[in-house]
Amino acid sequence: MALLPDLPFPERSDAGCHGSDLAAFFREAETAGLLASTAAVRLEECRRDLAAGRPAALSEAELAFGARVAWRNQARCIGRLHWRSLQVSDRRDCTDLPDVVAALCEHVACSTADGAVRPFMTVFAPAEPGRRGITMRNRQLAGYAGYLRNGSVLGDPLNVELTAEAIALGWTPPGSLTAFDLLPWILVGEDGRPVLVPLPPGLIREIPLSHPAWPAFADLGLRWYAVPVVTDLAFRVAGTVFPFAPFSGWYMGTEIACRNLGDENRYNVLPAVARVMGLDTVSKSVLWKDRALIELNTAVLHSFGAAGCRIVDHHTASAEFMRFCGAEKKAGRPVSARWDWIVPPLSGSVTPVFHLPMTDLGLRPEFFRPE
Ligand code: ARG
Repeated sequence: MALLPDLPFPERSDAGCHGSDLAAFFREAETAGLLASTAAVRLEECRRDLAAGRPAALSEAELAFGARVAWRNQARCIGRLHWRSLQVSDRRDCTDLPDVVAALCEHVACSTADGAVRPFMTVFAPAEPGRRGITMRNRQLAGYAGYLRNGSVLGDPLNVELTAEAIALGWTPPGSLTAFDLLPWILVGEDGRPVLVPLPPGLIREIPLSHPAWPAFADLGLRWYAVPVVTDLAFRVAGTVFPFAPFSGWYMGTEIACRNLGDENRYNVLPAVARVMGLDTVSKSVLWKDRALIELNTAVLHSFGAAGCRIVDHHTASAEFMRFCGAEKKAGRPVSARWDWIVPPLSGSVTPVFHLPMTDLGLRPEFFRPE
């Protein structure tokens, strides 16, 4: 696989370069030394492509830079200090389903990196008039089935529909169902037809959860996958839409503990954790949910750490986000951010981001949810 090389970035760039329009994007790329010709020439060429209804003919370096800036612009992401380290695999050439599957497997392997999780993005072909391109029904490359059984759900309620669709397409769930059965992939081909792709065994790394102080916690049988690879957002750069451009970073512990496992409409495990801890769950005011939530978060960070898999706690991530804001200010760029996404769902007010005013500026290049 041809990985795009690390690109040099100036500490300061001076071109009013928040990338929200084409000219600013090429000016910043020029300042970063990424263009074969001048920004003015590239702008003109790109405008010609777009006016003719073609995707912009971006070089690999421009594509990778666009991907990194799209991450930098992502108002919902707290992890953006690391935007320059995004590795980009240019698979615009890859149109056959088997090639796409191979590229997805490579994405999982390269981003998981045996626990040394690396921010990674694979860019497939751009949309063109009359060509929808290959996409995917799954929200992420890893996800757990949710089985509806007389009114309650075994597994992840988020994936009930996807699970039913996979079964309708011929997927056979494991003989004895569990709450953590990895789903197969459902790719949608150029013709719009869904195609079931069995998950290569052993591809997805998972971490069983245990707690450093409560041995009985492990008996809950909780686990989560190591790397979230988001597959349901499109990527837009230089007026060109890439409908399928999976990207991934490492987890922040709260995503798994507070939301995926803790949310009442997800795995809803707080009552079970409280039982392990012997907490009285009758009165809300004894804060049993808060205590269970802290220990669930502790278990996630502890288990990933013990497995040698990169993860970040919400205090460190918040401090890094503050550094990101400082660096962006120094570079003369505004930071686009959404308070409701950036502030961690645990102990919000003791993280510095709680006290930061934020505005979503809708900057481009961007990731966005396709219609
Ligand atoms: N919140 C999503 C999940 O829990 C993952 C979104 C991307 N997160 C990340 N750390 N890159 O699966």
